[in-house]
Amino acid sequence: MDFSIRAANVEDCKDIARMTMELSEYEKVADQVKVTQRDLEQDGFSKNPFFHGIVAEVPEQHKTKDGHTKIGYALYFYSYSSILGRSVYMEDLYVMPDFRGKGIGKALMSKVAQLGLAAGCNQLNFTVLDWNKKSLDFYFSQGSVDVTASTGYHCMRCDGEALQRLAQP
Ligand SMILES: CC(C)(COP(=O)(O)OP(=O)(O)OC[C@H]1O[C@@H](n2cnc3c(N)ncnc32)[C@H](O)[C@@H]1OP(=O)(O)O)[C@@H](O)C(=O)NCCC(=O)NCCS
Repeated sequence: MDFSIRAANVEDCKDIARMTMELSEYEKVADQVKVTQRDLEQDGFSKNPFFHGIVAEVPEQHKTKDGHTKIGYALYFYSYSSILGRSVYMEDLYVMPDFRGKGIGKALMSKVAQLGLAAGCNQLNFTVLDWNKKSLDFYFSQGSVDVTASTGYHCMRCDGEALQRLAQP
């Protein structure tokens, strides 16, 4: 199937918000989603963007029954490791169900890798839920390693009231 990958622009935020919701349903966290289309527009496409995005599109003849031609996306941003230097972090990777298994997820992830390497990064980081076996296997098939298993790194978070308390002088 023909498809193309390109940099996301502000007009894509409606579809990215739709697919973000689909991904959150897949990951069983839809009830926790706070980010709106407006947030994506502001946070990704203002002067100092917090993230960048790419979208996968199919030609009109392959559009979904609901008329969508934007059928996959990835969000990423740059970070830094004091050990390894420049890093790219892939926040989301998603392909709509009817379009999976056709090389689109691989092409999206490959594009994030290309952009990261072009920016001088030497690692691509991301997280995946432990029960998401299909995606874990997809990532392994792309040469990724599970650093939680191999080095013991755990993702940590401080948010809500704990974050407010922590920020008190
Ligand atoms: C994970 C996801 C992005 C993969 O996208 P996709 O378009 O279905 O995957 P592709 O067709 O590009 O797969 C390409 C390669 O991965 C391999 N692959 C894909 N799924 C695999 C699996 N479950 N096990 C082993 N290999 C797999 C394919 O064999 C193919 O390898 P090849 O090129 O060497 O033949 C997609 O399935 C998805 O959106 N899943 C639901 C959301 C999700 O879990 N996102 C990740 C959150 S962390």
